Amino acid sequence: MSDLSSETRFLHAIEMGLGAMQWGDRVIWQYGNSYHAEDVQAAFQSSLADGIRFVDTAELYGNGLSERLLGRFIKETEQPVLIATKFFPWPWRFNKGAVARALKGSLARLGVESVDLYQIHWPSPIVSIDLLMEGLVKCLKEGMARTVGVSNFNHERMLAAYSALARNNIQLASNQLHFSLLDRVYEKNGTLARCRELGIRMIAYCPLERGILSGKYSAENPPPGRRAKKYAETLTKIQPLLKEMTEIGQDHGGKSNSQVALNWVICKGALPIPGAKNAEQARQNAGALGWRLTETEVAELDEISDQILQ
Ligand SMILES: NC(=O)c1ccc[n+]([C@@H]2O[C@H](COP(=O)([O-])OP(=O)(O)OC[C@H]3O[C@@H](n4cnc5c(N)ncnc54)[C@H](OP(=O)(O)O)[C@@H]3O)[C@@H](O)[C@H]2O)c1
Repeated sequence: MSDLSSETRFLHAIEMGLGAMQWGDRVIWQYGNSYHAEDVQAAFQSSLADGIRFVDTAELYGNGLSERLLGRFIKETEQPVLIATKFFPWPWRFNKGAVARALKGSLARLGVESVDLYQIHWPSPIVSIDLLMEGLVKCLKEGMARTVGVSNFNHERMLAAYSALARNNIQLASNQLHFSLLDRVYEKNGTLARCRELGIRMIAYCPLERGILSGKYSAENPPPGRRAKKYAETLTKIQPLLKEMTEIGQDHGGKSNSQVALNWVICKGALPIPGAKNAEQARQNAGALGWRLTETEVAELDEISDQILQ
């Protein structure tokens, strides 16, 4: 690994975080039906009690509600919380000041003066990477962000972002990417390894593959909403993987499939940020910490996941 910059080192010391996309999102996650603000606050509190203090949100989640809820929860706790949020590159946000202006909006919703990590949510088809990075530099210079990162940037774009920031003597802190036992694109194409080389923390989103890796869904009992169609084929193929995960979990004193899935991400060198809708899910996910899969177990899981992903 490259020498880590002192500003971004804290991110490499975080083993796992908490995803807050579910907080307020009605479109994908049906917030307000089966779970409510009290439930996600309980997930937040349970995570803090288990030592998880890094929370990932975005201005996009729940159209600002996720940030507002997080801000409220932070006010109601004495414990320190590390906040990561994201800029969404809407097509009309094409000028230099757009990134810093959007962050001001996020800070107001969160009720804080700065965030620990500010990320560009997706690359923009219109705005150049250089201009987006200029926006992030402005956020750092104005003291509104402690570190800056990107999300959904492929290898090439990530290097462009890294270089643009390096020209300003700033380290690209992170790249947030889809990564789980059922999605290993960024491991296979070398992005994960390149992150490690360059001291960029790879943050893994959907580490439970949106609940599929917990084993609670099957072809006969599909997940609700849009996930049913998306995972219909996968659900017909994953039984061997789920069985192996359960057996490995048993060898570690009864770890659940979710805990094995998250531990696998950690063993690969990425930082998982599982989303939790309630205290029970958060508590269970926290049980992915404090132990490690063996190298042999990781290799066994790799082999079965390869067969499924073929
Ligand atoms: N940068 C990006 O573009 C991007 C994209 C997506 C997500 N993210 C971030 O990554 C975070 C995680 O991704 P994600 O939330 O989409 O997927 P995920 O973490 O793989 O799955 C979360 C879902 O799995 C289920 N679940 C969670 N813990 C469980 C447990 N212990 N047992 C059983 N089921 C459990 C819950 O849904 P059910 O109970 O309904 O099954 C929960 O909503 C998000 O919150 C967000 O912060 C970023």
